[in-house]
Amino acid sequence: MVLNLNDAIQACWKRIDEGQVATYIPVLAKVDPYQLGVCLYNVDSGKKDCAGASNVRFAIESVSKVIALLYAIERLGLTTVEDHLSSFDQILNFTREICNDPQITLNEEIYQSELRTGDMNRSLAYYLKAKETLANDVTTSLEIYFKQCSMMVTCESLANLGAVLANDGIAPWNGERLISSDAATYTKSVMMTTGLYNQSGTYSVKIGVPTKSGVGGGLVASAPKYGIGIFSPALDQAGNSVAGLALLEMISRELDLDIFKY
Ligand code: DON
Repeated sequence: MVLNLNDAIQACWKRIDEGQVATYIPVLAKVDPYQLGVCLYNVDSGKKDCAGASNVRFAIESVSKVIALLYAIERLGLTTVEDHLSSFDQILNFTREICNDPQITLNEEIYQSELRTGDMNRSLAYYLKAKETLANDVTTSLEIYFKQCSMMVTCESLANLGAVLANDGIAPWNGERLISSDAATYTKSVMMTTGLYNQSGTYSVKIGVPTKSGVGGGLVASAPKYGIGIFSPALDQAGNSVAGLALLEMISRELDLDIFKY
């Protein structure tokens, strides 16, 4: 690979000062902003390149929506709305499998912090209930959601997730199909169109790679042939990792990953 990830991290490091760690969940406010890590999984060669804070564990937060969506599609199909997701343990087990990381656990302190401060989520849950699109009751839905947000992952876990999506749903580490091809394609489309909050359109033009962010500072990206996991907790106004996206932009440019250029 021509791109040196350590050099890339050095080049993007100064961007950390443009952002701030999330503070609306008090426990996340304690995270050291000066961290930047990356892991790049080449699906064809099976080679993984990691640099910087690639083994640091952080809260997956909204990146978990990718996993929950895949889990829902696998269990319920693309059109069903009547069944419900059973339990957090099932999501945790599926997360460990698709991230190839049995060490993923729930951070109880973050979960409690989310429970205490998640009134916005609570209001949305009641809204969904009123619209009859919430399959579980409000309390159970919120408990599962806050717990899934509080799972602790690394850049490597997210690179593995991205690699399964990049490999049409097949785990490149053992050749096992973990999700259907349709689930992978559908989820990558949703990531490209909505994965970076209000900045999704901007980054589909600037980076051109299906990506999902979380307020813990994580990014998962699925590019042709590559799964990418990035972590840097200082966020921009939209809630995306500033240095993380700068790094992803550099990787996309250097490795020619922009899908709109094909
Ligand atoms: O929903 C929330 O506020 C968080 N627990 C997850 C945040 C996140 O990463 C994306 N937010 N919408």
